[in-house]
Amino acid sequence: MAGGGENSRSVRRQVPLLLLFSLYGQIASEHIHYSIPEEMEKGSIVGNLAKDLRLNNREIGNGNLHILSLGKKQYFTLSAENGNLYVRERIDREELCGQTAICSINFEVVVESPMNIFHVTVEIQDINDHAPRFVNGDIKLEISESSLKGTTFLLGQAEDPDLGVNSLQNYNLSTNQYFILEVRERKDGKKYAVLVLNKQLDRESEGSFQLILTALDGGKPAKTGTAKIWITVIDANDNPPVFTQKVYTVKLKENAPKGSSVVQVKATDRDKGSYAQISYNFSNIPEIAHQKFYLDPQEGTITLKEALDFEEIEEYAMAVEARDGGGLVAQCNVEISLLDENDNAPEVILASLSSPIPEDSAVGTLVALINVNDRDSGDNGKITCDIQHTLPFKMVSASNNYYKLLTDAPLDRERTPEYNITVTATDKGNPPLSTYKTITLQISDINDNCPAFEKPYYTAYVPENNPSGSSIFRVKASDPDVDQNAQITYSIRNSITEGLPLSSFLSINSETGTIYAQRSFDYEQVREFQVEVRAEDGGSPRLSSNATVRVCILDQNDQSPQILYPSQGVEGSSLFEMVPRSAEEGYLVTKVVAVDADSGHNAWLSYYLLQATEPGLFSIGSHTGEIRTSRAFLERDAVKQKLIILVKDNGQPPLSATVSLNLVFAENFQEALPEISHQPSDSEYQSDLQFFLVLGLSFDLLLIPPDSDSGHSHEDSAIREPQIPAVFCSCSPFKQHGHFPTKL
Ligand SMILES: *[C@@H]1O[C@H](CO)[C@@H](O)[C@H](O)[C@H]1NC(C)=O
Ligand SMILES: *[C@@H]1O[C@H](CO)[C@@H](O)[C@H](O)[C@H]1NC(C)=O
Ligand SMILES: *[C@@H]1O[C@H](CO)[C@@H](O)[C@H](O)[C@H]1NC(C)=O
Ligand SMILES: *[C@@H]1O[C@H](CO)[C@@H](O)[C@H](O)[C@H]1NC(C)=O
Repeated sequence: MAGGGENSRSVRRQVPLLLLFSLYGQIASEHIHYSIPEEMEKGSIVGNLAKDLRLNNREIGNGNLHILSLGKKQYFTLSAENGNLYVRERIDREELCGQTAICSINFEVVVESPMNIFHVTVEIQDINDHAPRFVNGDIKLEISESSLKGTTFLLGQAEDPDLGVNSLQNYNLSTNQYFILEVRERKDGKKYAVLVLNKQLDRESEGSFQLILTALDGGKPAKTGTAKIWITVIDANDNPPVFTQKVYTVKLKENAPKGSSVVQVKATDRDKGSYAQISYNFSNIPEIAHQKFYLDPQEGTITLKEALDFEEIEEYAMAVEARDGGGLVAQCNVEISLLDENDNAPEVILASLSSPIPEDSAVGTLVALINVNDRDSGDNGKITCDIQHTLPFKMVSASNNYYKLLTDAPLDRERTPEYNITVTATDKGNPPLSTYKTITLQISDINDNCPAFEKPYYTAYVPENNPSGSSIFRVKASDPDVDQNAQITYSIRNSITEGLPLSSFLSINSETGTIYAQRSFDYEQVREFQVEVRAEDGGSPRLSSNATVRVCILDQNDQSPQILYPSQGVEGSSLFEMVPRSAEEGYLVTKVVAVDADSGHNAWLSYYLLQATEPGLFSIGSHTGEIRTSRAFLERDAVKQKLIILVKDNGQPPLSATVSLNLVFAENFQEALPEISHQPSDSEYQSDLQFFLVLGLSFDLLLIPPDSDSGHSHEDSAIREPQIPAVFCSCSPFKQHGHFPTKL
């Protein structure tokens, strides 16, 4: 560092330029602009980014604020404590930007939660840290003494990588009597010096001499570089070579292959012999151009030595010198402009991704930040970026080749738990080049689904006399959410109906939904009831739904028929019926009346004559229970007749009861009386009687529902087929309240 640069080092901190990009939704990008001189010490403060972005301590804490690196070289560091932006390493503007007029470093700063991005531009200003330098060193000229006043000699140019006034501004020549200096400007603005003969030379008086050429830049103070000019005056008398063109302009495709011919320069010389033999050489050529191009000294053809890259250098300028055998020279300039080819596909970099995002994310939520760039220029470097249109996302262009991926519609994890979003970046070249990048985005669950029972109403059929604690039914609910949000707990709404908690009837396994009977049911007491079951998930808040389970008790054949008439007298004393001796065939003697507390088939009764004193004398209607004479009474028949009648229901297995009936044939009661009073203790019938007593029921008539008497035959009835419903449970499907027992 030459002295004097120090005072220009004070940071010129511009008021941050806050550009509010009006984008979709609430997301805005701000643009911060700083300007610093090059070559600042490592650790120098560039600015306080936190303050300029108006962020508070909470927002910058915990590494929330950081520079997005994207693998690029970092020139700055950001303090997580105070938000200061520091220089990370010495920045050499010339190394970074070469001769580009505006040199700036762009980078992005990201604040996490809420995620936002800020674009920061730090402009690097030139300081005069380079002196002009003659690249080719000292200059040797051989000048014919016959050269005319006004003849020019190219001296070549000095290089100063600084910018603007800090760069090369002028040339000065040491005082002498023969030459003056003319400073010219090339097409690209570079200055070069030309020596102009101002007085005829005379080799005999001064054969050689030395001049000092000084190149100056415009810094304050100016820096200089010098070169010595060795001039040898030669004795000659000839014509200098002449180029056919002063400037050769060539346009060359950047992808031209190695060895391709670029241009041919040509100079002619009107002399003869060796004085007309021309050889070509580069006289003023940047090192980088020298690497790329080859000049054939005889032919003057320039060919390509190495592959070119428009993205690296767009233009080459060089001078070619033609020298004849007598040492006379002529120069021409060759300017080669490269034509950009679309040889770079766009680059897509995922700068930041929030995955998973919850399925209830609002429309417009920022999902990812995508950086795209294309090294080509013009249309070849213009990029459009998009995603599949079928997805509920969209790309929104932010500044500086950044795109934001936002949600564009509500999400539903149950429908789509994962998205593969293909980002397509396409340039506008011909043909266009595209780059694809797939982003896999996970959607996380929110408890937004209630558990759902398979059916809103269930009917469970339970045969009565079930063991207490047996499982009778199972309900099942499902929940399309995941994990806790789908973990279902079953319960019975423990309401108290008619004074009894439902829990005394049923219980449910909270995990499996299996329903257990808490007691043995009795069809004759309760025919049906219904309960509400609830399924609740484990989300926060919990969601639940209901279903109704109707429990229908199925009848079992657990009740024997009960004979109401004839009623068995005390201690087996049977009733006597009197039959007129003159009774004709078909005379109705009496009717056995029986009931069965079961229902349906189980209560369908039939009647049989089990034993008779005189078989064939009486018959019984198997459905009606009516006992009739089968023929007229004959004198040989016993006056006293005993019948044992069996009443059987139609259950599986059937249950039955018997009753005995004593009949006396007589014309009147007086005649019958002696027969009745004479009671034989007939042990023959005793066994039947005991059978009857075993089946004798402690039967509560009050509990028999009025419609359960389908087995009950009435006096008048013809044979009545019992009405047996297909399903014994008669409850209607949408009854609101169950039947509860009146007595338990
Ligand atoms: C050029 O050099 C001469 C003598 O060498 C000096 O007098 C003159 O001031 C210089 N000009 C500039 C612009 O430096
Ligand atoms: C061409 O010029 C370079 C310097 O620019 C020199 O080193 C080289 O010898 C020259 N070649 C010829 C053939 O004159
Ligand atoms: C996304 O891509 C991955 C990898 O190719 C694949 O395994 C997955 O099934 C894809 N998901 C969807 C939703 O297409
Ligand atoms: C469940 O049933 C009760 C009463 O029947 C009702 O108040 C409640 O809203 C129901 N819950 C759901 C989720 O349907």
